[in-house]
Amino acid sequence: QELKVSLEQIEKGGYEHFMLKEIFEQPKSIQDTLRGRLLVNEGIIKMAGIWDHLDRINKAERIIIIACGTSWHAGLIGEYLIEEFARIPVEVEYASEFRYRNPIITEKDIVVAISQSGETADSMAAIKLAKEKGAFIYGICNVVDSSIARFSDAGSYTHAGPEIGVASTKAFTAQLTILSLIALKLGKHNGNLSNAEFMRLITELDNIPKKVEEVLKSTHDYVKEIAHDFVNSTNFLYLGRGFNFPAALEGALKLKEISYIHAEGYPAAEMKHGPIALIDENMPIVIIAPKKGHYDKIVSNVQEIKARKGKVIAVVNYGDEQVASMADYVIEIPETSECFSPIVASIPLQLLAYYIAVYRGANVDQPRNLAKSVTVE
Ligand code: G6P
Repeated sequence: QELKVSLEQIEKGGYEHFMLKEIFEQPKSIQDTLRGRLLVNEGIIKMAGIWDHLDRINKAERIIIIACGTSWHAGLIGEYLIEEFARIPVEVEYASEFRYRNPIITEKDIVVAISQSGETADSMAAIKLAKEKGAFIYGICNVVDSSIARFSDAGSYTHAGPEIGVASTKAFTAQLTILSLIALKLGKHNGNLSNAEFMRLITELDNIPKKVEEVLKSTHDYVKEIAHDFVNSTNFLYLGRGFNFPAALEGALKLKEISYIHAEGYPAAEMKHGPIALIDENMPIVIIAPKKGHYDKIVSNVQEIKARKGKVIAVVNYGDEQVASMADYVIEIPETSECFSPIVASIPLQLLAYYIAVYRGANVDQPRNLAKSVTVE
């Protein structure tokens, strides 16, 4: 029998879909994004884009992050990172809103555009507007030499490699990696981070690729199995607090994009202001509950959900007891600093969305109505 192997099959490297391949590439894509930048032994972060413009950046009265879709979720985590470590005020805006609302921008502003493709029309228009008003434009793009990368005054590439699946996975975690590096570098240079704290954080950041590798290994089979239980679900809630609130938004977006199940992400504490009305025995609720980061508050959120018979899928750290004992499904992930936990927690959420979509027979690499990069309005 003739052996037919298409180019596409070769490109998928033995995986059924590009998306799954890209999910599994994350230990490498994060490492590639750190390579040459994070030099733990020397105790430094090397980023020419920041270093060459440090004066300008240090003078900034605020940073405005603009992006769309998944990149916007990365931007929200960027806000938490930069405000926490560099103590510079950050605003995060949808590029499409920013460009049309006559925003206040001055020469003292730094506008950071985050874009996997570097071609998103709204993001491009937003930085054109910001540049006209004198802001300094910093691009965080994955595609080398893309329009946004070329238009920016400075920037840092994510080195996630080509992302083919329409739903962004490895580009997202690479964006979080770059934003972590930027926040830590700025914090070190402007004196907000002590040397000891900086060293502790960069040592942990250096461990992230290994932890991502570990979480892929330890959660894959379990998530693949439990995904069967949600094939007929019509709604999902995703909850998280602090750094993991945007991770909840991104988890919900992944599910929506590829499985066509309606999903909403919420900060866990906002649940009582609306979404709690939706909770019954048919509502699966994914709750991101690592030990570090408002754990006690999350415990009470889970109690409120269980009192209404919601189905809890909890993402917790190894050995967790309190949340795990109440949850219907327990996904265990390694512990890390709160600021890096969205990177690790996102992995099982990507897998969950992927397998639910596959079992529903959806075209995960090319979901209906979506495009990899939106170059028109
Ligand atoms: C499209 C894609 C999303 C992506 C968004 C922003 O909607 O389907 O996956 O997050 O555009 O794209 P960008 O290339 O600017 O990150």
